Amino acid sequence: MPNPGGFGELGFEQAALRIETVLRTRIQAPWRRLTRDELVALARGRAALITMLDDRIDGALLDAIGPELRIVANHAVGFNNIDVAAASARGIVVSNTPGVLDEATATLAIALMLATARRLVEADAYLRAGHWTTGWSPNFFTGLDIDGATLGIVGAGRIGRTVARKARGLGMEIVYAGRRDDPEIERETGARRLPLDTLLAEADVISLHVPLTPETRHLIGAPELARMKPTALLINTARGPIVDEAALVEALRAGRIAGAGLDVFEQEPALAPGLAELANVVIVPHIGSATTRTRAAMAGIAIDNVLAVLDGRTPSTPVNPEVLG
Ligand code: NAP
Ligand code: GLV
Ligand code: GLV
Repeated sequence: MPNPGGFGELGFEQAALRIETVLRTRIQAPWRRLTRDELVALARGRAALITMLDDRIDGALLDAIGPELRIVANHAVGFNNIDVAAASARGIVVSNTPGVLDEATATLAIALMLATARRLVEADAYLRAGHWTTGWSPNFFTGLDIDGATLGIVGAGRIGRTVARKARGLGMEIVYAGRRDDPEIERETGARRLPLDTLLAEADVISLHVPLTPETRHLIGAPELARMKPTALLINTARGPIVDEAALVEALRAGRIAGAGLDVFEQEPALAPGLAELANVVIVPHIGSATTRTRAAMAGIAIDNVLAVLDGRTPSTPVNPEVLG
C-alpha cells in the first residue's frame, strides 16, 4: 500500500524542496509547463524525475536525459503521458499514485453530475447577471432527477467503483461496462454489467473511468453519443481523448444528449471550438484530485517511490514492476 504520510504531509512544495532530484523549476512560482528542451536541460544527468500528467515522456527524451535516469515518478495515477515500454526497455522504473485520489476524483465526478443535472452553473450565472426579476415559478430551471436515475460506469476500477458507491447514496441504480465481471462493484452497489452499447442506451448518466489507451481513444464518438438518451448526461473525469470532443459539441448543440460535465479535454488546456458557449455543459480545468490532502498524498507517494529506487528498495506503486527484476 502506498504511504499517504511521509513526505506527503509536507505538501508538494515543501517535500520537493528536500529532494535534490526533483526538477527545481517545478517548485518555483508561477507554475508553468516546461518545454521539452527545458525539461531535458533540467533533467540531464539526473537519477530521478517527478513528472506531471502533461509532461510527454518518450524514448528519445529518456535518451536525451541520459543513462543515469532510474525512475520516472508520475504525479498522477494516469500514466498515458509516459511511454512505459520505452522506459522498461531502458531499465527505468515508472511509478504512479493510485488509490489516494479515488475519493477526491469520485467526489468531483459526482459534483459534475449534480451541477449538470440541476443546472447549477447556468442558474448561478443567471442570478449573478441580475436576470432574476420574476421571483419563483414552477418551470424555472427544471433539471433531471438523480434519485431513481441509472448511472452507467464505464471502467469499474478504483475510481469507477468509488463513484458507484457514492451514487448509491443518492438513490441511483448502477450499471457498468468493462472487459470483465467485477464482483466488487456488483457486491457493493448491486451493479449489473452490460455491453457498452446497451449501457449507452439505458443509462441516464454515463461516467467515464477507463485509462486512456489505444483501445479507449474516442471510445465515445458520434455513434456512441447517438445511442444515448436525449435526456442523458455524459460525465468525464478520466482523460479528454476518450471522448471525441468535436462530436460531443455537435451532439450537445443539436440536443442529441442533454448535457455534459467535463474535467478533462482532448487538447488541454484548449477546449474544442464551441464547447464553452454551450449552456448545458459544466467545465472545470482538470481538478479531479485537487484537494489539499489528496495532492499532498500524491506528492508523498511520488517522492517515496523516488527515494525507494535511489536507496535500492522496492517502490510501492511501480507500473512496470518487471524492471525491478
Ligand atoms: P483503475 O483502477 O486501473 O481502473 C480503470 C478501469 O478501466 C479498470 O476497471 C479497467 O479494467 C478498465 N479498463 C481499462 N481498459 C479498458 C478498456 N479498453 N475497456 C473497458 N474497460 C477498461 O484506474 P483508476 O485509478 O480508477 O483511474 C482511472 C483513470 O482516471 C486514470 O487512468 C486517469 O486517467 C483518470 N484520473 C483522472 C483524474 C482527474 O483529475 N480527472 C484523477 C485520477 C484519475 P481491466 O481490469 O479490464 O483493466
Ligand atoms: C489525474 O488526472 C491523474 O491521473 O491522477
Ligand atoms: C420550495 O421552496 C417549496 O417549499 O416547495
